[in-house]
Amino acid sequence: MIVSAYLFADGVELADDTLAQCAATLRKGGLIGLPTETVYGLGADADNATAVAQVFAAKGRPSDHPLIVHIAAFDGGMSGVAHYATRVPAFAQQLMSAFWPGPLTLILPRRDGVGAASAGGQNTIGIRCPSHPVAQALLSTLRKPQEGEAVVWGIAAPSANRFGRVSPTTAAHVESELGSSAEDSLLILDGGPCEMGIESTIIDCTRGAPVLLRPGSITSAQVEEACGRKLLSQDELELLETQGLTAPRASGTLESHYAPAAKVRLMDAKALQQALDMLGADLDTSTNVAAARPSIAVYARAPLKTKSKQILLRAMPTDAAVAAHELFSILRELDDHGVKLIWVETPPDAIAWDGVRDRLQRASA
Ligand code: TXA
Ligand code: MG
Repeated sequence: MIVSAYLFADGVELADDTLAQCAATLRKGGLIGLPTETVYGLGADADNATAVAQVFAAKGRPSDHPLIVHIAAFDGGMSGVAHYATRVPAFAQQLMSAFWPGPLTLILPRRDGVGAASAGGQNTIGIRCPSHPVAQALLSTLRKPQEGEAVVWGIAAPSANRFGRVSPTTAAHVESELGSSAEDSLLILDGGPCEMGIESTIIDCTRGAPVLLRPGSITSAQVEEACGRKLLSQDELELLETQGLTAPRASGTLESHYAPAAKVRLMDAKALQQALDMLGADLDTSTNVAAARPSIAVYARAPLKTKSKQILLRAMPTDAAVAAHELFSILRELDDHGVKLIWVETPPDAIAWDGVRDRLQRASA
């Protein structure tokens, strides 16, 4: 069931009863669909192991793949971090001040006895202070309990999709991914389409130097500038691993992830145009009714041409942030058309495109 938050240009007005309903659901160990500025999450009380287990079950996610814990923005997130983490290195502090609330997740050493299920049993924990006003309204309500209630410190929320699939960027996407799998119908808080459209940048802060685990809208260059430190390179990381300091598990870093049902292939504009030239006529001569439905979609910045009406052409935005914003909904839309193949023009080789390129490479793996 989708419940609505009322969004205005200058902020959000949540119907009090909607907010109370979502908070009560989380307090009693239930799950909700939660809007954030990146993608929608499937949220549970991060300190309730039974509720967190249901998140893993609903997603079909292995329970040793840790979840991100979302915290309230009071005091820049400091009290939430202090609840879940032990040591916060100076560079992590600088990243928090520079980017929170916002699309940045920090991996920190976990405090014993808190968030163990959310962390998939690891001794580290991923923490994020989201900027979406609806998420923040809910998080701050949970931090201010009524008499007789306990404080809920954080919401553990992976992206609200089935494991390995495309992340949801609208409440309707969440409904179609998980609406029917929940025992009672899943309560989904609608905060409008997600602004960023791809998941948060993840920086591991547990290894003495910042390590990029997942690129996102906040670029590696912005991270390095904000903390005055170089991100550890892949080579340096591998050196650490050979010394027995293994990398934390991160399912977002699995090679194949974020995948639509159709096969995704990345090509440059020239190869795309050649492929279209070769294919167009063949598809048009088909008299088979089933084959008359589009079976190939093309998503490209270059102005490509095809003679076939059976190839779906979609224009990729030339601005990286706009492309990120619509990426997952486009992949979903093309899937809904029933295409078997999605040919995508390789994103530009610029830092601003790192997040989009990463998602597309994994979708095509
Ligand atoms: O933007 C986002 O980050 C969204 C929204 C809902 O906040 N969440 C999200 O969650 O993308 P999820 O579960 O789909 O991806 C979380 C990523 C995974 O790759 C996970 O392995 C990694 O974060 N992660 C979480 N805790 C970790 C930890 N303690 N150590 C290493 N990686 C961790
Ligand atoms: Mg995910």
